[in-house]
Amino acid sequence: MAIKRPEGTKDLLGAEAQFWARFRSTAFDLFARYGYTPIDVPMFEKTELFVRGIGEATDVVSKEMFTVVSGGNLAKLVAGEHVRSDSRFSLRPEGTAGVVRAVAQNGMLQEGGAPVKVSYAGPMFRAERPQNGRQRQFNQVGIECLGADDPSIDAEGIIMLMRFFESIGIPADKMTLLLNTLGDESCRPAYRDALKGFIVDNAADLCEDCQRRAETNPLRALDCKEEGCQRILADAPRIEDYLCDDCKAHYAQVKAYLDAAGVTYVEDSSLVRGLDYYTRTVFEVRVSVGMDNNQNAIGGGGRYDKLMAEIGGSDTPGFGFALGYERCKIALEAIGAEFPEPPAPALYIACVSSDQRALAFSLAQQCRDAGVACEFDHQSRSLKAQFKQADKLGCAHVAILGPDEVAAGVAKVRDMATHEERKVALEELPQALEK
Ligand code: HAM
Repeated sequence: MAIKRPEGTKDLLGAEAQFWARFRSTAFDLFARYGYTPIDVPMFEKTELFVRGIGEATDVVSKEMFTVVSGGNLAKLVAGEHVRSDSRFSLRPEGTAGVVRAVAQNGMLQEGGAPVKVSYAGPMFRAERPQNGRQRQFNQVGIECLGADDPSIDAEGIIMLMRFFESIGIPADKMTLLLNTLGDESCRPAYRDALKGFIVDNAADLCEDCQRRAETNPLRALDCKEEGCQRILADAPRIEDYLCDDCKAHYAQVKAYLDAAGVTYVEDSSLVRGLDYYTRTVFEVRVSVGMDNNQNAIGGGGRYDKLMAEIGGSDTPGFGFALGYERCKIALEAIGAEFPEPPAPALYIACVSSDQRALAFSLAQQCRDAGVACEFDHQSRSLKAQFKQADKLGCAHVAILGPDEVAAGVAKVRDMATHEERKVALEELPQALEK
């Protein structure tokens, strides 16, 4: 049987590949207006980076990473021999850890001064159970800002994200922006302890995952999808009652900026996100169309003031978000958006016999150099078959080269819609089509 692509991956073809390219460039153009410039980092990193950066107890790290070893080490692993931890690599499950590593490793904060604002796009890999809106390889577009802890960074990032979603055609009334703060290292420990105590006290009525989370990461229990757990956890201690004055003031200022920009949000004290690096602001954008509730987040992010120090860099505040391309596409399809096919070549150069092929080859080159998209026959087809191909490609014009035309230094140009024909001097072909 022919080999198929792995489950949970997708081939982007035609209109979809075209849309992904436009999606990325629309994002980069908008983000550049806010000072974010592109960065491109490896698709795999040392596993340790994700373990330390994202958190060992997170689902993403403990269950969903694709971890690889290089050739020689694979043989060792198969033979049951030890493979050093710095020889283990993982396909990136998200972009933040790698970008923060790159900013630290390349001394970008020293060179350009803070804040460093970067944007990125590309595939991420998570070994999740594939379903609508949940893939094993998916594309994210994201931004990270390093070196500034001012709430204006958080607010402008969130505003930029909402503007982007609207610019690609997702209406504001189909999106909900959820907002929360997780406090910082001075106020979160007390909240963590209080929540842990609550979970332990109610353990008998909570699922096994929540009971386990009491030890590993009590905040993640707030995210539990079990109805029974949600009912009980509705009475759990709330972060807002534990925030220190600095965190309270930071959060209030983020909200004030969003209010001033007219961006509406819903405060949700159970929003904790699935990655352990967050401090203070966290947010997520969910849609009401196309996907069920577990997959309807089209983007999310927040502040991570301790991440760079955690992976061995300087103590540097950070903020960022990432959005999921495939989920945006599903939402757009559900609201009836159209995805145009890649544009057809304007011209097809057809030859009556193979005697004109060399001329067709050089004419095609001249047209392309002049900015006219054109195609010609690469497979020695008959004239009739060349017309068929031109029609299939959607070419608006066909230039016919036969012995008589070549002798007279012209091409017969047929308008494929009206079937009108006119003679055009060969050297004027590109200009004639531009008109
Ligand atoms: P995340 O919420 O894990 O955050 O992922 C961001 C977005 O990627 C999600 O909202 C969703 O649209 C998409 N996504 C995640 N997993 C899948 C999947 N299996 N299939 C399809 N789409 C998916 C992050 O990754 C953080 N790095 C965001 C961030 C940047 N925080 C700070 N800076």
